[in-house]
Amino acid sequence: MRHLISPLDFSVEELDKLLDLANDIENNPDKYADACKRKKLATCFYEPSTRTRLSFEAAMLNLGGSVLGFAGADSSSAAKGESVSDTIRVISSYADICAIRHPKEGAALVAASKSDIPVINAGDGGHQHPTQTLTDLLTIRSLKGRLDNLTIGLCGDLKFGRTVHSLIHALARYENVKFILISPEELRVPEYIREDVLKANDIEFQEVERLEDAIGELDALYMTRVQRERFFNEEDYIRLKDFYVLNKEKLSQAKEDMLVLHPLPRVNEIAVEVDDDPRAVYFKQAQYGVYVRMALILTLLGIEV
Ligand code: CP
Repeated sequence: MRHLISPLDFSVEELDKLLDLANDIENNPDKYADACKRKKLATCFYEPSTRTRLSFEAAMLNLGGSVLGFAGADSSSAAKGESVSDTIRVISSYADICAIRHPKEGAALVAASKSDIPVINAGDGGHQHPTQTLTDLLTIRSLKGRLDNLTIGLCGDLKFGRTVHSLIHALARYENVKFILISPEELRVPEYIREDVLKANDIEFQEVERLEDAIGELDALYMTRVQRERFFNEEDYIRLKDFYVLNKEKLSQAKEDMLVLHPLPRVNEIAVEVDDDPRAVYFKQAQYGVYVRMALILTLLGIEV
């Protein structure tokens, strides 16, 4: 039995196979319509979500399976003090596979250690968000045709943004990928990403504060929102929340084929006027999230079509 807790749980070859499967699902949805008949997905979300939870549910429904679960800690027995370990042991007898989102780093790993069914980390605190990374990789590979030889700009809250941490981990394994990390001083990537992932693997990277200083070099710009829920005080959040706003004027300095990605939800960091630009692919990216989660469910359940 396999789980997905970190983006590194799949080798590059396994990732390629998963992304190929996602593309096949996109092109031939009918072929997969009954692949998970009589299978059940549990979505255990202790934190708010729109895309991740609903795209997992859509994925399982598209595969002919069913879904059950909860969308907030308050509507589960966590509100009465039940541990994640106990909850997953119970869910193991109700469902065939489980996606879990939790505010605490490591919660999905704890769940996997007690589970009799595959567990998928749907986001653990400020740590990792591996299925968003699968979505991001599928988007970049489908629209750029490759995952190597790219200059990727990551902009915004690089400290608390778990999607950024997972994406750096995953892309660092491809050839000749260069990162430009664009953030205010207080929101730079955590030390372990800089030292243990980037420097340890001899990955080329730069850290800059001004988006304008980097945008012209990028093949893809990954915008992120400032993660209000992870700040210790509101004043710091208010000071930093609008540090970056990508608008038409800034985008005019970018390459004609640069992709603008965002895991969403967006707050103010991309002006709505950018949405109609063909380089803005963040809504398409959310759609890719369904295909890749379908591929992941099939892979973890060992179902071949
Ligand atoms: N991208 C993402 O994780 O969105 P949600 O928080 O809406 O699931």
